[in-house]
Amino acid sequence: MTQYKIPVIPGDGIGPEIIREGRKVLDAAGEQFGFDIDWIEYPHGADHYLETGELISEDALRELSEYRAIYFGAIGDDRIKPGILEKGILLTIRFYFDEYINLRPVKLLDGVWTPLRDKTSRDIDFVVVRENTEDFYIGIGGRAKKGKSKKTLEVMRNLYSVKFGLDINSDSEEIGYQLGFISKEGTRRVIKYAFELARTRERHLSSVDKANVLSDIYGFWREEFTSIASGYPDVKTDFNFVDAITMWFVKNPEWFDVVVTPNMFGDIITDLGAMIQGGLGLAPGGNINPEGTSMFEPIHGSAPKYKGQNRVNPIATIWAGALLLDQIGEKEASSAVVSAIEQNLVDGKVKTYDLGGSNTTSEVGDDIARLIRMR
Ligand code: IPM
Ligand code: MN
Repeated sequence: MTQYKIPVIPGDGIGPEIIREGRKVLDAAGEQFGFDIDWIEYPHGADHYLETGELISEDALRELSEYRAIYFGAIGDDRIKPGILEKGILLTIRFYFDEYINLRPVKLLDGVWTPLRDKTSRDIDFVVVRENTEDFYIGIGGRAKKGKSKKTLEVMRNLYSVKFGLDINSDSEEIGYQLGFISKEGTRRVIKYAFELARTRERHLSSVDKANVLSDIYGFWREEFTSIASGYPDVKTDFNFVDAITMWFVKNPEWFDVVVTPNMFGDIITDLGAMIQGGLGLAPGGNINPEGTSMFEPIHGSAPKYKGQNRVNPIATIWAGALLLDQIGEKEASSAVVSAIEQNLVDGKVKTYDLGGSNTTSEVGDDIARLIRMR
């Protein structure tokens, strides 16, 4: 029997409840497909931070780098200022492990209601490949009051390091600024990944940018996309401004197969993607470094107001677990998990409140685990 060791960070709010169901379903898949998962729990999140002052240490990160995949619940807590845990834990993990692909399937499963009138599971089935390490997420910026000031801003990555020395002279009362950049290396690798993915699907890749206004950063993106596209003559391509693509996601989702996007636009359009596939309770994501340590999580947050009630939908997390299985090479088990989710939805008997049901988080997990054992 194959043995896997998988670190798990349940996190805050509803994190522990949804992760418990994810583990249950992945364990059931292991029984059926001949592998066993040894889960290694990590305490990181709000409580750990409040108790110890630590977000996630270099030691913990080094230890995690021994593994192929991390299973992650959610973080965020009302007691802590927004951004501290998100940047200190979630983004730190994404950047430390150079998880440059944020893979977010937007797939309406059978049995799920979409707010888009007349659209079915045949129409809504695409994958967003979001760049996950650059753009306005690099976390450098500042504030400057009237007058002269200096500031040095630095971004250090495995791929490169970039330093900006700013000489500010402003007569505005105060400014706030944020720098974003994309690198040639960072842009090319994510676009290539998206082209390769498109080759395994319908061979259609849509690029997202805002090259008409933010032309230095996204004009560069477009140029790199065009140059890589010439190596994939078999893949149909198009360019979409980010504002327009939000409209097309609603009006004609069937046009899309694979969508590749810079980081921030990817963040925004995948919440819209989640809604058209039936809601945040159903939307999974993978933060992937194909050669390193990846991390799998639902795209929703920690929903503190539902904490401990056993009420929320665990499907996004279970589906993220399916993406995890795919990443570690358990392809068959991965598709079995997605099929079991779909069967649960088609049956429509055991469902949480967001889908109009009154079942608990654990009943949904039990039902999906049962469906896996039945195959
Ligand atoms: C997401 C989230 C994160 C992001 C936050 C929590 C840092 O919104 O995974 O989409 O902006 O990437
Ligand atoms: Mn988001």
